[in-house]
Amino acid sequence: MVPSLQKFGHRSWTQDKLERVRKYLVAYSIIMQKRRFQYAYIDGFAGTGYHELERDDGESLFQELEEPEVEAFLDGSARIALQVEPRFNKYIFIEKSRKKTIELKKLRVEFPDRGVDIIVEKADANDYLKKMCLEKSWQNHRAVLFIDPFGMQLTWETLVAVGKTEAIDTWILFPISAVNRLLKKDGHIPVKWRRRLDLMFGEKAWFDVFFPEDKSMGLFDNNPPIRRKVDSMETIGAYFNQRLATAFAGVAPNPYTLRNTKGAPLFLLCFAAANPNAVKPAIKIAQDILKRDPARSLFSADDT
Ligand SMILES: C[S@@+](CC[C@H](N)C(=O)[O-])C[C@H]1O[C@@H](n2cnc3c(N)ncnc32)[C@H](O)[C@@H]1O
Repeated sequence: MVPSLQKFGHRSWTQDKLERVRKYLVAYSIIMQKRRFQYAYIDGFAGTGYHELERDDGESLFQELEEPEVEAFLDGSARIALQVEPRFNKYIFIEKSRKKTIELKKLRVEFPDRGVDIIVEKADANDYLKKMCLEKSWQNHRAVLFIDPFGMQLTWETLVAVGKTEAIDTWILFPISAVNRLLKKDGHIPVKWRRRLDLMFGEKAWFDVFFPEDKSMGLFDNNPPIRRKVDSMETIGAYFNQRLATAFAGVAPNPYTLRNTKGAPLFLLCFAAANPNAVKPAIKIAQDILKRDPARSLFSADDT
C-alpha cells in the first residue's frame, strides 16, 4: 500500500497543489451534475497518473521501513480527477511523452467504469489545446483544465484560446522561479530567453514592468535611461495574474505561492474562469481554496 502523507505528517508542495485542485474538482462536479452541460476534466500536462515522493534532505519520511531508498508513489492529477465523485463525463489527458501516455492508458483498466470516457492524447499541450478550444463547439460543453508544466512550456496563445471558449475553468501552475531566473539582474537577457518570455506573457511589455526606467537618473545628460530589475517575485506573479485577467472573464485575485522546503517560491497556483455567466461562483470557490492554510484544512475530511 502507498504510504500516505498524513501518516508521515509531511506535505510536499506537489501534494499541496493537487489537493487544492482536487477540492475544486469536487465542488465543480457537484454543481455541474445538476446542470444540463456535458463536462470534462482536461489535463494539459498529464504525466503518468502518479508521482514519486522523493526523500527530503535528511527528513526520515520512511524511518520505519527497512529500505531507506524507498519512494512513495502518490496519486497524480489524472488519477485524482478519476477518483472525484460525482464523476466527470469525459477525461482528456494530454501528454507529450509516449512512455507516459502508455501509463495513462492503464488508467482505463484501473477505472473500468470510466474507461471508455478516458481520452489519452500524445500531443503537445499548446497545439492540442488551441485546436480543441477553437474548433470545438462549447455551447453545451464545459470543462476544468489543469495546466501543470515542469517549467515555461505554456504559451500565451493557448490561454487566449481557452479564454475564448467562455466554457473552461482553468488552474495554472505559473513557474515564477524559472521566470525570475531568466530575468537577469543586469537586464542583458539573451534573445532566446526574451523570446521565451514573450511567448509566455504574450507581449513584450514585461521588460518595462520588470526593468523600469530609473527616472531620477540621466535626466540632465544624454545617456540612455538606467533600468534596474524590480526585485520581487510578487511583481512577476501580479503581472501574470493581470495578464490572465485580459484573457478570461475572471481570475482569482489571490494566487497561491508554492514553496520548496526552504521556503523559496517555485510556482504560483492561479485560477481563471472563462465563462462570464458563471464567473462569480467559480472565483468564489477558487478564492476560498487558494486562501486556505494547508496545515489546517487541506487534508480534512471536509471535501467541499
Ligand atoms: C509536472 S508534470 C505533470 C504532473 C501531473 N500533473 C501529475 O500530477 O502527476 C509535467 C508533464 O508535462 C509533460 N510535458 C512537458 N512538456 C509538454 C508539452 N509541451 N505538452 C504536453 N506535455 C508536456 C511532461 O512529460 C510531464 O509529464
